[in-house]
Amino acid sequence: MKIIMLGAPGAGKGTQAKMLADKYEIPHISTGDIFRANIKNETELGKKAKEYMDKGLLVPDELTCNLVVDRIQQEDCKKGYILDGFPRTIPQAEALDKALTELNDKIDYAINVEVPDENIVGRMSGRRACVGCGATYHIVYNPTKEEGICDRCGKELILRDDDKPETVQKRLNVYHEQTQPLIDFYKNKGVLKEVDGTVDMNDVFNAIVKVLES
Ligand code: AP5
Ligand code: MG
Repeated sequence: MKIIMLGAPGAGKGTQAKMLADKYEIPHISTGDIFRANIKNETELGKKAKEYMDKGLLVPDELTCNLVVDRIQQEDCKKGYILDGFPRTIPQAEALDKALTELNDKIDYAINVEVPDENIVGRMSGRRACVGCGATYHIVYNPTKEEGICDRCGKELILRDDDKPETVQKRLNVYHEQTQPLIDFYKNKGVLKEVDGTVDMNDVFNAIVKVLES
């Protein structure tokens, strides 16, 4: 099963992708997590990506597309995968399409998690992210058992640098300009499914599973 998670920053793509990856035992591939890991390890890619991410801008397509196209050809992706945060521009979607066509493959579902902008800023300010496995929590909606420590891997939780309210607003603007057009792109391909992302995260999950298994 090959799935793309669509949705605004903070819609819950990462939260749902992790739950789906556990259920279906397929990899969760988040370009945001890959960039953050590179920033933490101070790689060349990380240094370049950080310049854009800290401003709430998208990392250029040429730094992003090859990375994902290589990743989805690895052995653990044979059964399927969940792409979270990629594609997020039309050129990225076209590059993915081209690569998949060459591999004689296709995306099965693009799941759009719908959350209005008004709900987003509150979610972001309460978010905590794991530096180890990328799991996301929320201090109110999804707290960890032990404060500041990841339930999944025991590593430390941090506030993301790009979760400041002014950067979140910029990310939302960028989303509406550059990423929202992908909804129509995947609708035209007949693979788009929409779920309400404003309800409890377990209800969002059940709605997605229903879509995938219907
Ligand atoms: P990325 O890491 O992908 O960030 P994003 O798309 O802005 O999305 P987020 O990770 O902020 O939100 P999410 O939808 O995953 O929500 P989450 O599950 O955490 O990208 C970061 C940056 O990297 C970009 O700005 C860009 O610079 C760069 N980048 C990445 N990919 C790129 C690409 N392809 N091309 C170019 N640049 C790229 O949930 C949010 C919070 O809400 C959490 O606290 C969570 O616990 C809580 N929550 C989740 N669901 C619910 C619910 N149902 N009810 C209540 N709270 C909930
Ligand atoms: Mg995320």
